[in-house]
Amino acid sequence: MSRQTLTLNDALYDYLLGVSLREPPLLSRLREETAALPGSGMQISPEQGQFMALLAELVGARRVLEVGTFTGYSALVVALALPADGRIITCDVDEEMTAIARLYWAEAGVADKIDLRLGPAVDTLDALLSDGDAGTFDFAFVDADKENYDAYYERGLALLRLGGLMVIDNVLWSGAVADPERQDTDTNAIRALNAKLHGDQRVSLSLLPVSDGITLARKR
Ligand SMILES: C[S@@+](CC[C@H](N)C(=O)[O-])C[C@H]1O[C@@H](n2cnc3c(N)ncnc32)[C@H](O)[C@@H]1O
Repeated sequence: MSRQTLTLNDALYDYLLGVSLREPPLLSRLREETAALPGSGMQISPEQGQFMALLAELVGARRVLEVGTFTGYSALVVALALPADGRIITCDVDEEMTAIARLYWAEAGVADKIDLRLGPAVDTLDALLSDGDAGTFDFAFVDADKENYDAYYERGLALLRLGGLMVIDNVLWSGAVADPERQDTDTNAIRALNAKLHGDQRVSLSLLPVSDGITLARKR
């Protein structure tokens, strides 16, 4: 199959951002502050954030689930796109990084929209399911530890309503998924989920080469 996707060089990437990115100053500041921290590469790119905000608008999201908060960029960019009664539940284990997130959410005036659940995300999602929240979320973003990706997908799918959308991050894993020599746990977990999703008729599917690769899975 011939390759139709452009390779972005720096000039083209800058052009893309220059003609499309509408990042509010507070989100730019959060990106700058995060850039100086360990693990800064975990933060989503600004164009991915803007794309996710648009997706949340397109599905009319009011209830959002996020797995992987970090310093709060993705939760904030989506929260800013939600209606006044919109809510996000976001899961992480890292108190220090999520403390930064809380500061920015407060400054943006959306702290009351974002409910941070500290603890292993599998436990948080299981608690939501036991509390009767299955089928109640409109939009979900999966962006945490890769070895639990399948667990996040299954629980996230149960928590989404019909027609709800899940966005799964890092599905191309810097290209490692296509390198047979890469047999580490994270790469294999992403490969396994990608292969499972390909044949999973419970969802409509698209894998896009945005940033580190994102999969869109709409619950049928
Ligand atoms: C890729 S970062 C999230 C980036 C974030 N979405 C953003 O826009 O900046 C992944 C996060 O998952 C968290 N994490 C790792 N293992 C976890 C677990 N078992 N349960 C919940 N969160 C976890 C890490 O602490 C880290 O903050």
